[in-house]
Amino acid sequence: MNAEVLRRRLEFYRDLGIRDLYRRGVASPKTGIGDPGSGIGKESEPLLKILEDIGDCHRCRLQEGRTHIVFGVGNEHSPLVFVGEGPGADEDAQGIPFVGRAGQLLTQMIENTAKKEGIPLQREEVYICNVVKCRPPGNRTPEPDEMEICGQFLFRQLLSIHPKAICALGGTAARALTGQKEGVTKLRGKWHKWRDIPLMITYHPSFLLRAYNQAAKREAWEDLKKLLHFVYD
Ligand code: URA
Repeated sequence: MNAEVLRRRLEFYRDLGIRDLYRRGVASPKTGIGDPGSGIGKESEPLLKILEDIGDCHRCRLQEGRTHIVFGVGNEHSPLVFVGEGPGADEDAQGIPFVGRAGQLLTQMIENTAKKEGIPLQREEVYICNVVKCRPPGNRTPEPDEMEICGQFLFRQLLSIHPKAICALGGTAARALTGQKEGVTKLRGKWHKWRDIPLMITYHPSFLLRAYNQAAKREAWEDLKKLLHFVYD
């Protein structure tokens, strides 16, 4: 591989939030063993291994219309992971989650709430991903089988990062992580658990973009405050 190709590939991995790269069969500095494996019950597997397993995924119908698989972005060692529903048009075009209007609102929510609460935090310092990694056509809600298939990769991402807390944005993420069917209004603002990891549920930024949702906006800000203090105090 020439230097330019290598540089572009490293930049791509960096944008995905991947900072540690291991060569197959070469001892990893964390585990001392080559190719750390599934991570369940031992050292966590690197995100890169999960990305490799996704490959050029054709496991469900969402592959038909996608431009990019949107894996995740941010700090893979972050104590905080945000989980959305699935990529929209902007995310599909760029291969990065939450870069459209909803993403800009999410960035503001994270950074403004942190600033007001005296917590120095930039979006790049958290990790952001989605339940499904390919854009559902017309931004429809992912179907249960799509969530089931892609959910295994989300779960592996969460096990790999093993953050101090997870934040589910909206009903699809809440359903994927709790298995509960209740709406976000019922579930939000309270602590739940995904495996052994505390889970906060709040509104999806797309929902908050609708002008009539002022009350929901205030509630989302309260949820984020609770979350950020728990993680960073
Ligand atoms: N909505 C989501 O749920 N995820 C994104 O990445 C963008 C918008």
